[in-house]
Amino acid sequence: METNFEEIINGFLDSRVGVSNNFLSVKLANDLKKNLLTLYNEEALKLAGIGNDDDFIVNKKIRNDKIFWLDKNELKKSEKIFFDLIDSFVLYLNRSCFTGIKSYEFHYALFEEGAFYKKHIDQFKTHEGRAFSMIMYLNKGWVKEDKGELKIYTDTEIQLISPDNQKCVFFKSNELPHEVLVTNKSRMSITGWLKTS
Ligand code: OGA
Ligand code: NI
Repeated sequence: METNFEEIINGFLDSRVGVSNNFLSVKLANDLKKNLLTLYNEEALKLAGIGNDDDFIVNKKIRNDKIFWLDKNELKKSEKIFFDLIDSFVLYLNRSCFTGIKSYEFHYALFEEGAFYKKHIDQFKTHEGRAFSMIMYLNKGWVKEDKGELKIYTDTEIQLISPDNQKCVFFKSNELPHEVLVTNKSRMSITGWLKTS
């Protein structure tokens, strides 16, 4: 576990984007994907918006993924295991980098075939507490033709990240513009933010 944490933090310090290819175990990724698909079939996932609360608007020209916010009071077994993993990561991050993370929020996301999320940063006026973005993918056997890469723009380079099963991507929310390229296949993930407030 700690090797994965170190891998993320080292990658983050080296290139502003931390990646671990097996942050989620195969079983955990499987179980979370099952939950996500059940919610999707129950039509519990909703089109995501931009901004929050009073500013909330759905703009399908900017993003058209569907999401479901995880509620810590209503967790299935695998989701509890997921949050235990996040708790350990936050503890590790706060201890090794003095990041002062106090809370977090996570949602499931599903991009249907043809869906995308245009270039943006993850911190809005009303989301100032968002310090780090974390995305974990739930897509077995993803191949190049499936597209749907996460494209991250740092000052010096562009990183294209394939949404492979078990992978975690980590970066600072207020700095790096990024986008999700049009996906050719249903693309699933858990996305969240570590917050300082
Ligand atoms: C987001 C986002 C990236 C991804 O939800 O803000 O940028 O790879 N997601 O799903
Ligand atoms: Ni984003």
